[in-house]
Amino acid sequence: MRALHLAKASANSPPEITTAFKSIPLLKPGHALVRISYASIQPSDRLNAQGLFPYTTYPRIPGRDYSGVVLDVADKSGASNSWIGKSVYGTSGSTLGFDTDGTHAQYCLIPQDALVEKPATLSSLQAATVGVPFTTAYICISKAQVTKNDVVLVLGANGAVGSAASQMARAIGCKQVLTAARRPDSKPDIVIGSETPETMLTEGVSARTAGKGVDVVIDTVGDLKLMTAALEQLAMNGRYAWIAAPRGDSSKKISFDIFQAYRKEITMLGCNSAARTIEVTADSLRSVNSWIAQGSLRAQAEGDFETLKLDEAIENGYRKTAQKVVIDMS
Ligand SMILES: NC(=O)c1ccc[n+]([C@@H]2O[C@H](COP(=O)([O-])OP(=O)(O)OC[C@H]3O[C@@H](n4cnc5c(N)ncnc54)[C@H](OP(=O)(O)O)[C@@H]3O)[C@@H](O)[C@H]2O)c1
Repeated sequence: MRALHLAKASANSPPEITTAFKSIPLLKPGHALVRISYASIQPSDRLNAQGLFPYTTYPRIPGRDYSGVVLDVADKSGASNSWIGKSVYGTSGSTLGFDTDGTHAQYCLIPQDALVEKPATLSSLQAATVGVPFTTAYICISKAQVTKNDVVLVLGANGAVGSAASQMARAIGCKQVLTAARRPDSKPDIVIGSETPETMLTEGVSARTAGKGVDVVIDTVGDLKLMTAALEQLAMNGRYAWIAAPRGDSSKKISFDIFQAYRKEITMLGCNSAARTIEVTADSLRSVNSWIAQGSLRAQAEGDFETLKLDEAIENGYRKTAQKVVIDMS
């Protein structure tokens, strides 16, 4: 089969990414062999290819998200056999692309307990773009225990995770969902694209909540100034869920008012989609499926993505960080 391949020349060197011919994986107990139809390239796949995930082992086929068709299952007892021929989709959790061969290949072994049927309302291409963003948004929403009584602020609301989180908060029926994004053309509630985004955020939240602040912040940007400003907008029992941080050597430290934070009983919730098993992550995806089926959660449109063949995926996918890319494995 054709696959992408990460390998290190030495323990301290960054990995090299190449295309390679490999054997189709042999079925292992408890696993299904899936022919991959499409696999997206997520921001974390690009970081993984730069060697920025310390738990990745090499050589490794990268790739977290996928859609595909089940060709065979190892355990054919009970209802397992009925998976054969089904269209499925999913995401890595802590394994695929990290310590287990991932989805940027024509075939991949998926634990049978992590198989999730693709909803009919999603095309195969769209389904391959859902895994990491939707399950990450779901982790934020779940950890922050978002309810319909909450006012929720989403930072980076145009992004893949941010738009999923905003939709989920609306699907829950939250009292108010405030979107903050830097592009005015996307018509967010609060534009944070100026020279002083933190001031825009503070003024925007205050104006839209009559100074009461928000119950939950879902921060998909990870900018220190924005985070400091957003923390101050939390109301009593406020929860702050975040998924990103400044890259490279930039400082990753913030300071905040610990007096206000304990008085308000603020909770800080770091959220990491690669910290859960693939089976637990599949459960999150199954929960998300019901919102997709109801039509209250929409995947990004096919047209939002550039579709590449595997041969083009390194140059035009992995190395072009601004691009939203799906690999067509056919
Ligand atoms: N912790 C986890 O498990 C996890 C999971 C998934 C992703 N992530 C990380 O979370 C971040 C978002 O992921 P994603 O897939 O949603 O990425 P994405 O689709 O590229 O979206 C990122 C969004 O953030 C906005 N943004 C970036 N810098 C900004 C700034 N300084 N001020 C305001 N908005 C800014 C972008 O705005 P524009 O639209 O204007 O460019 C874009 O809408 C990435 O850093 C990713 O690596 C973490």
